[in-house]
Amino acid sequence: MSIIDKVIAAVTPPESDEARAKARAEATAACEPGDWLSLVLDHHIELEDAVAAVEDATTADERTDAFKEFAVLLTGHAIAEEGVLYPGLSANSETGHADMGYTEQAMVKMQMAALEKLDPMSQEFEDKLEHVKGALMHHMYEEEGNWFLDLKKKATPEEQEMMTARYTEEFERYTGESMVEDDEDEELED
Ligand SMILES: [Fe+2]
Repeated sequence: MSIIDKVIAAVTPPESDEARAKARAEATAACEPGDWLSLVLDHHIELEDAVAAVEDATTADERTDAFKEFAVLLTGHAIAEEGVLYPGLSANSETGHADMGYTEQAMVKMQMAALEKLDPMSQEFEDKLEHVKGALMHHMYEEEGNWFLDLKKKATPEEQEMMTARYTEEFERYTGESMVEDDEDEELED
């Protein structure tokens, strides 16, 4: 096990599934329709589904494709948080949480780069993926249960509006995914 694996293993979820569900319910209750927090929660759920698809894949090709999808979503989400929301934490007297966020995401990025080089059906890949998943789950729990709830309370309405616009812009710039189109589709379905 490398040093990074050990660090990640050390932060593998100490919290229970119940605690995670409670944090998500509280964060969901704090959302306003279409705001940055609701976008973050949507992406966290998509990330959970994406990592499950990597785990569930039964062939190398299927797993490689699922891993690519997971990696694009993870990187797009991380870029948007690192460019917009962690600076927002820091500007609202939460620099310690911002520092922790950057550090945890840097570790996950290194693990993702290492995963990319492994045989996707190997035990080593599956072990490392478990570490990434554990670190990701814990990181999302910290964001949902505490960091982002504080930011939601502390930021001014103008800051909230700016964060929603900039988070969207940064995420779409990387993923090429238009959330505007998704909203339009939903409106048509209503
Ligand atoms: Fe996040």
